[in-house]
Amino acid sequence: MQLTDTYGRTIKSLRISITNRCNLKCIYCHREGEIRHTNNEMSIDTIANIVKASRKFGVNKVKFSGGEPLMRNDFERIIKALPELKDISATTNGTSLAQRAHDLARSGLNRINISLPSLTPEKYRKVTGGDVNIVFDGIDAAVASGLIPVKLNMVLMKGLNADEIPAMMDFIKKYDGKVILQLIELMNFQQTARYQVNIDEVEKFLEKRADGIEERSMHRRRKYHIDGIEVELVRPIDNSHFCANCNRLRVTSDGKLKPCLLRNDNLVDVNNKEPVEIEELMKLAMEKREPFYKDAML
Ligand code: 5AD
Repeated sequence: MQLTDTYGRTIKSLRISITNRCNLKCIYCHREGEIRHTNNEMSIDTIANIVKASRKFGVNKVKFSGGEPLMRNDFERIIKALPELKDISATTNGTSLAQRAHDLARSGLNRINISLPSLTPEKYRKVTGGDVNIVFDGIDAAVASGLIPVKLNMVLMKGLNADEIPAMMDFIKKYDGKVILQLIELMNFQQTARYQVNIDEVEKFLEKRADGIEERSMHRRRKYHIDGIEVELVRPIDNSHFCANCNRLRVTSDGKLKPCLLRNDNLVDVNNKEPVEIEELMKLAMEKREPFYKDAML
């Protein structure tokens, strides 16, 4: 049996936040859509039980996020506690990957996404408050440990980093296809409207240079092949296709199923529950699941 909502969307993956803590302060951060701050982080057992329950419904992909997931010192143990899956990945800021990439890979992590809004030390510090050189070491460690493909997440901001797209494309060339660039349209959760980039222009820029273009059904993401590198473009804003093909269910760090990134009024608490109980609650979460942008579905 699968988990399918009333709009015909079947859940194929979980996106699990395991902490709200983070060691950076990115000006664009959407905090995975969580508004309340909680220190009530799920236990390893709860996380494993949620994944076990979802396995019953054929879910075989899990992505971990935060906050910064590596803020949890037991992240390696969390991964080891999971049942057999096709794909286990995480989204990290990369600042502690130089130390942990190897152990993460050995624990069973398959691949990793690293947030990298800028290559320039001053700009990186301005956007995140951190040191980009540490992240470069983290990228190298991730590639060396086989956490590939490494995806670099670059949230685009006008006047801050949008002019760095060519430099970023150049930067990933040396990794021989093991590193993919993911350009992401800024979702305006904070007071960041002045940084909004015209994504149509970015799309045109990529189209002009592309040797080939593919489209993924999930979020209707486009993948461009350019001079031996891959660039993906993620357009979450006002994109009804973004919702139409959404096949993920989110979990908040305090153990609530979260049917939509953009809503907080339909959460389902599964913290400290056993897998059989979680299975029933997953069905309940499906009843509450609704596209945020509906136009393309009507
Ligand atoms: N807009 C778009 N993407 C965002 N992310 C975080 N905040 C935003 C935002 N405002 C994404 C980035 C980051 C990941 C953790 O979440 O891709 O790498």
